[in-house]
Amino acid sequence: MKMNVPTAALLVTFSTSLLHSADSVGIELRDQNWPGVGGQPGEQHYSALDQINPRTVAKLGLAWSLDLDGEHTLEATPVEIDGTLYFSGQNSAVYAVNAVTGKLLWKFDPERYKYRPGHLRLLFPVNRGVAVADGKVFVGTLDGRLIAIDAHDGRAIWSVQTVSDDSLQTITGAPRVFKDKVVIGNTGGDAGARAYVTAYYLATGKQAWRFYLVPGNPADGFEQPAMKMAAATWSGEWWKRGTGGAAWDSIVYDRDLDRLYIGTGNSGPYNPRVRNPGGGDNLFLTSIVAVDADTGQYIWHYQMNPNEAWDFKATANIILAEMKIGGTRRKVLAQSPTNGFFYVIDRETGKLISAEKTGKVTWADHIDLKTGRPIEAKNIRYENGPVTFWPSPYGTHNWQPMSYSPATGLAYIPAMQLGGRWENDKAFEKSPPPHTLKSPYVTGAILQFVKADRNDGTGSLIAWNPVTQTMRWRVRYPHMWNGGTLATSGNLVFQGDGEGRFHSYDARDGKELWSFDAKLGIIAAPITFSVSGIQYVSLLVGYGGATGFGSDFASKGWKYNRQPRRLLTFALNAKAELPVTPPRDNSVAPVDDPKLALDEEAVVRGAKLYGNGCAMCHGLRASSIGVPAPDLREASTAVDLNSFSELLRTNALAINGMPKYDDYSPEEIRDLYMYIRAAARVALGKGSFPSAMPVSGAPGG
Ligand code: HEC
Repeated sequence: MKMNVPTAALLVTFSTSLLHSADSVGIELRDQNWPGVGGQPGEQHYSALDQINPRTVAKLGLAWSLDLDGEHTLEATPVEIDGTLYFSGQNSAVYAVNAVTGKLLWKFDPERYKYRPGHLRLLFPVNRGVAVADGKVFVGTLDGRLIAIDAHDGRAIWSVQTVSDDSLQTITGAPRVFKDKVVIGNTGGDAGARAYVTAYYLATGKQAWRFYLVPGNPADGFEQPAMKMAAATWSGEWWKRGTGGAAWDSIVYDRDLDRLYIGTGNSGPYNPRVRNPGGGDNLFLTSIVAVDADTGQYIWHYQMNPNEAWDFKATANIILAEMKIGGTRRKVLAQSPTNGFFYVIDRETGKLISAEKTGKVTWADHIDLKTGRPIEAKNIRYENGPVTFWPSPYGTHNWQPMSYSPATGLAYIPAMQLGGRWENDKAFEKSPPPHTLKSPYVTGAILQFVKADRNDGTGSLIAWNPVTQTMRWRVRYPHMWNGGTLATSGNLVFQGDGEGRFHSYDARDGKELWSFDAKLGIIAAPITFSVSGIQYVSLLVGYGGATGFGSDFASKGWKYNRQPRRLLTFALNAKAELPVTPPRDNSVAPVDDPKLALDEEAVVRGAKLYGNGCAMCHGLRASSIGVPAPDLREASTAVDLNSFSELLRTNALAINGMPKYDDYSPEEIRDLYMYIRAAARVALGKGSFPSAMPVSGAPGG
């Protein structure tokens, strides 16, 4: 770690931020802290600090950096309170760091590989952050616990299991705190799990309430009247096939109205003919649901994709604001979900105010403002053969937080463009297999990503006016998997990109004013805060996440375990330097056993197993530069069938995140082996795969 703490002498420009008046959510922005993952209450990812501004930003420099050994994918937005930074790493470890010096104060490791180890395979490891209140730091762990940690010394105070042992759920989202409670959602929609969020008391961990987001079996009774209403929108035996709707990211507390807004996920299975044979909207999939903060009772919902069928999710971050619309000031919430529309909703009533496309969006023509429903394109549910449309399940915008500046009235969206081709899985429609740990993601549909125009696979930063629903400006990036954004009253927007550059733009016109080479791709969102009158900007740098299924376009030479993962902090006039960092490397050094004869049929079978079980972490076709696991074409452990089999059937690498596959038969392991051997030969230019082998994927998180 290198550091260089700037002195207070540079504080000449420190001025108006303390005097900043009420922001658009009716909250006094006097706070110099960044108290929650979304920043101030209302989660605008916006700060009233303005010491760093278009006049001074050229002097912004690195104050310190902290290497985070053992980390790979870093998605968390840190929290900062009174000079301490709190954040989580990929395996739900929590760090507390002195925000001025960069000194690690404590680290809490929940040892997630010891809990439900079989479930390691459900998801690449990520965690989007912590909540701090009541002297405690709260984290949801990938294995499904919610843990309260002492903010001073990092010791666990209480721990509750929020998903059952046999469920196909995990946790990747940040908990949110409000009044005397903490709330957490979970993942599992792609695996058909029944979604819910649970609130616990801060002090004890005792459960206060649980709100289910989709109905269970009516024969078991409904937990809430809202579930009876929701059940009327489902058909067939949905509780057997799976539902989905996971709230894996955004939950926001509204202080004005004392309620929570929950962003829900996609269906599971995706294919609506199997999930919902008689039709119906399938509430509350792909919705924002408002519930009472004290009781968890339903208030209203708005559904973006009735009878969802394409892995679209309304899980992206939700910002609360007041906006002048049609001459009246209204309490609104805004979201830019994966389906590509930007939604502004009245948060008192849940009524849609407006929705417009932010990019290439062809699944629907428009959203009918009277009914709130989309006017969908023909054959969009792939009922009459394959269909190609935009956007792909990555969305025009995924979990990377957007920000909103009440000063400019603009939202800053980390946007993407990519198409998807959808097709019925015919075998599945005839006899759908259940979701099991061995095969959790049975979707009923075959998805391929489509790059058809020159902007497919690219990203941009979009400045969007939510009132006029128009784009103000745009900055383009060559790749699509980039970082979240931060807006400040200093009229700056900060964003890191997948190439490893951390940028600052003028919030009014998008002119780039400053950038820094972080030497590793960035996907997390930055924050800003002030300690002793000095404004800082902090950011986690750790490329990865949902890059496995997207490895065709997300490979950028950031090899597994090559570039150190880091927390960076910047201030004006600071001049620290990053430690030496290995450069990007797109080369592959495949290993091969030339004597081995490939069994082509096994390779084809292995491709399917690989697509279901390994691609999420190791990348498509075992080509995995930039994904959260090693490139298997280079793995010497995969050259000999016996050692490969041993590795899969034992827990040997679990501590580093490699799941156990002891439920695979020797034949299946051989099939996988043959497939990886074929991939290495292809990379060596010594052959080609037997045929095109589509892989269905479920990116998110
Ligand atoms: C949840 C993510 C994840 C999934 C799913 C996953 N792996 Fe891994 N795998 C890892 C990680 C992380 C490592 C590296 C562990 C380490 O650094 O020790 C690894 C290591 C390996 C290695 C050793 C690589 C080497 O360089 O020696 C092999 C072989 C392997 N995995 C095969 C597979 C196969 C086959 C599948 C599918 C059946 C699979 N993995 C599924 C995360 C995953």
